[in-house]
Amino acid sequence: MHFNRRNFMKATGASVFLPAIIGRSWAAEAGAPLPIPEVMDLGNGSMGELTAQLGRHEFLQGQSTQTAGYSQSYLGPLIRMNRGETANVRLDNTIDEPISVHWHGLHIEGYLDGGPHTPVLPNTPREAALDIEQPAATLWYHSHIMERTGAHVWYGLAGMLWIDDPDAPDSGLPETYGEDDLPIVVQDRKFGSNGELVYTPRGPSLMMGYRGDEILVNGAIQPEASVPAGMVRLRILNGSNARIYHFGFEDGRRFYQVGSDGGLLPAPVDMNVLTLSPAERAEIIVDFSDGKDVRLMSGPDNNAMGGMGGGGGGMMGGMMGGSSPASDANGSFEVMRFTVNSGLTPKVTTLADTLAGAAEVEFGEPVRRRSFQLQMRGSMMSGSMKINGVEMKMDVINEQVNIGDTEIWEVSADEMQHPFHVHGTSFKVLSHQGVPTNSANIGLKDVVLVNGKAEILVKFDRMADANAPYMYHCHILEHEDFGMMGQFTVT
Ligand code: C2O
Ligand code: CU
Ligand code: CU
Repeated sequence: MHFNRRNFMKATGASVFLPAIIGRSWAAEAGAPLPIPEVMDLGNGSMGELTAQLGRHEFLQGQSTQTAGYSQSYLGPLIRMNRGETANVRLDNTIDEPISVHWHGLHIEGYLDGGPHTPVLPNTPREAALDIEQPAATLWYHSHIMERTGAHVWYGLAGMLWIDDPDAPDSGLPETYGEDDLPIVVQDRKFGSNGELVYTPRGPSLMMGYRGDEILVNGAIQPEASVPAGMVRLRILNGSNARIYHFGFEDGRRFYQVGSDGGLLPAPVDMNVLTLSPAERAEIIVDFSDGKDVRLMSGPDNNAMGGMGGGGGGMMGGMMGGSSPASDANGSFEVMRFTVNSGLTPKVTTLADTLAGAAEVEFGEPVRRRSFQLQMRGSMMSGSMKINGVEMKMDVINEQVNIGDTEIWEVSADEMQHPFHVHGTSFKVLSHQGVPTNSANIGLKDVVLVNGKAEILVKFDRMADANAPYMYHCHILEHEDFGMMGQFTVT
């Protein structure tokens, strides 16, 4: 793999701004069929194997690109686990540097969490037995090595993880995998003139997070899904390093959010724009019964230091936040397309007003308040990333939480918006910018995009000791890798 720590650590600027468009040896073509990842079903005691490996993947016509993946060339299988069971998986690594498998959103003990303290070393397999005791939800997994998470995820070390709850009442939502229940992993990537992935965060693209100008869904550039003329469930993960999406359909049609990070909402929420910051998930139901083909679009990502128009397109967008996809006059760009296939019989044609099996957590009264300031200091070209004045250090425990306690965490964001993530739990968002939120519409979360200030209600029921503490961090991966992360124990 040709990403390396030295490139990565350098905070110089200049040449990254010269787009390598002239003399490209490739064409990026949209419209390939949406790849549907293979399922690794860890239900009923079956053992899975996940091997981090290098590979070559065809993103661009006639080009093969160096990538990494879990048991495949790019990304990993869709893993399914059942609530109330133990999921067994053997983790291996054939890449010549440590990787990890962090189970993002899973409520499991610190030593199983797959964070920076529990790497999978090259050719040193380890087994994990994960007790699944949380509501059905759409989660994901990715490598999470100190200073390497951004590069690992960029090259492909990530995948989706779905928790099913066999005992939950039937929500009536679509659930035919690959047909009316679709995994949608959205990522932006950048390719050099030679067709290889380019990951060179430095200067502004480090300070504001690294963005690409090609949009991939499940590893294919702006693909096309063929769907039945009924209700279709899209389980969307923003698997990008830094880009924030504002999803909406080209024809402005409304859709319903039915799930967020931690599981199903109590009732569908009617909307026509869905914002997802890095690592956030949403399940939405889209009605295709009118038989019309439609494109899924996203508005521009304006998250930049001082609000200077990060990935918004045009000269400033290109300068300030790295690359931007080809956009229309409003800065909107295509994510993927849906074509209605009259040959497929729709299985679900209605959506209930309330959802059986909504995710719930008993929080109880908060006993303590903590505050976390996500800080970016310095100039656009170089600076530092900290939380409460300190950079992440592997041997420093920043916070200690008592198991079973409920707390309010007050998170404030410096300079730009930051997606704040907490390991080991799902939380409730109490307020944003001082305004109480309607948490029924937001659902249980493990990432919250903080613009100014947010208050969250957290509770931890799993142990994490100082040998394998949990993390809290900004999920803009360049911010995380550069120190906007902290560690806490739960004992
Ligand atoms: Cu998705 Cu600490 O990570
Ligand atoms: Cu996580
Ligand atoms: Cu950040």
